[in-house]
Amino acid sequence: MSAVETQKRYHVTTFGCQMNEHDSERMKGMLESLGYAPAEVADDADLILFNTCSIRESADSRFIAHLGHAKRMKRERPGVVVGVGGCWAQSVKDEIFERFPFVDVAFGPGQINRLAEFLTSDSLSAQGYFEFEGFPAHLPTKRDRAFQAWVQIAVGCNLKCSYCIVPSTRGRESSRPFEQLLDEVRALAADGVREITLLGQNVNAYGRDLRTDEPLPDVLLPYATAAKRPTSVGQAGRPRTFAELLLAVAAVPGIERIRYTSPHPKDIREDVVAVHAEVPEVCQHIHLPLQAGSSRVLKRMRRTYDKQRYLDRVAMIRERCPDIAITTDIIVGFPGETEEEFEETLEVVDAVAFDGAFTFVFSPRRGTEAAEMVDEFLPHPVKVARMERLVERVQHHARERTRRFVGRTLDVLIEGPSRTDPSKLRGRTTHNKVVNFTGIGQPGETVPVEITDATSQTLSGEMSLLSALRV
Ligand code: 5AD
Ligand code: SF4
Repeated sequence: MSAVETQKRYHVTTFGCQMNEHDSERMKGMLESLGYAPAEVADDADLILFNTCSIRESADSRFIAHLGHAKRMKRERPGVVVGVGGCWAQSVKDEIFERFPFVDVAFGPGQINRLAEFLTSDSLSAQGYFEFEGFPAHLPTKRDRAFQAWVQIAVGCNLKCSYCIVPSTRGRESSRPFEQLLDEVRALAADGVREITLLGQNVNAYGRDLRTDEPLPDVLLPYATAAKRPTSVGQAGRPRTFAELLLAVAAVPGIERIRYTSPHPKDIREDVVAVHAEVPEVCQHIHLPLQAGSSRVLKRMRRTYDKQRYLDRVAMIRERCPDIAITTDIIVGFPGETEEEFEETLEVVDAVAFDGAFTFVFSPRRGTEAAEMVDEFLPHPVKVARMERLVERVQHHARERTRRFVGRTLDVLIEGPSRTDPSKLRGRTTHNKVVNFTGIGQPGETVPVEITDATSQTLSGEMSLLSALRV
């Protein structure tokens, strides 16, 4: 038998957010370092993995359908190993083995290294790994794109948003050491990475749990509270800040663009906004999850800001960065949301005119405070009708906002061929807008593109050189 035939193969299906996609990249990197090869489809794999999410109900039910398929495969080929990782796995923990006895290994986020332990052990019995241990050991990563990389800067979340399962699935907030992150970014840049996305559950809370004696960079001094100024550095030093991390990453040679997700509106402060305004590598895009427009609903969601504070923050951002794209997350049909309160969400959507929004129908997540508000759950048709009105309004503004780019020439980082028309290229502007355009260039290159048309989602255009040649 040839080596190819004996090599074990894996297949990973990912649900949910970018954090999960990044975790999947690390699973793949780790498996390949153990000698596994990728399989195109799960049916051809010896190891079938699911990296799960518990944010949305739809992800859960899709996942259950996939698991049903895995069960059939296991019946046909009993040697197949089935693994379930991620947030949903964490939220139901050992119940997984009772409900799905064909699952061999289950692990929470941040326990990917334990998957390696399981695969290299002789154990044949089902195993679950769910403790929180801060950061997983360094793992090799298999990146989907050579020029883009995610860097996880913190794990966990200390907030208690009443609808959110994350604090119980990803544990307490813990920041990765500053120097360690910079080393990782330098290594990625040396490996050809041009765009970095910093990841964390509450990304801009970064650094509060770290201490340093280094002075704050001069450009950030005007925004520092007394505690962060060098003069007040005590024995324990000052905390690190997210703004100084952005500055330091931007200073790494080769890094052209920096994005991050997801921030909490309360932590988007002036220092971060100043960095967006002054540092060209930091993209002209802020994702600022609103969740609801009514202050009463926000309070019940435990979001720690009200409608006015959110609007003030948007005004501050727009004053310093007039061209920046602002996107958001909105939940409709939170328990007890009245028609008037929902209309306040529409009012904020109109007042801000978001560049885009992810919209969610509230669904109870087990173990969360909002899941207990059963008496106030809204009927499904009410939630769906509100969602339709919201989406219509969101799209209207997104369309209006993208129109502002028509006629301008924007730098576009090429990602590959266009998905709709392979004769064209596809890339992204600093505002995170997808552009399909005619032109020439390789993935990872940044080229100027003249924008000729816009829909609510995408822009189209021509590479400037070509349009110049045509005249
Ligand atoms: N129901 C609906 N949407 C939710 N989100 C988080 N939890 C829930 C829930 N229980 C949404 C929030 C968050 C996004 C990632 O998912 O809008 O910002
Ligand atoms: Fe969940 Fe709120 Fe933390 Fe986001 S900030 S992960 S919504 S608890």
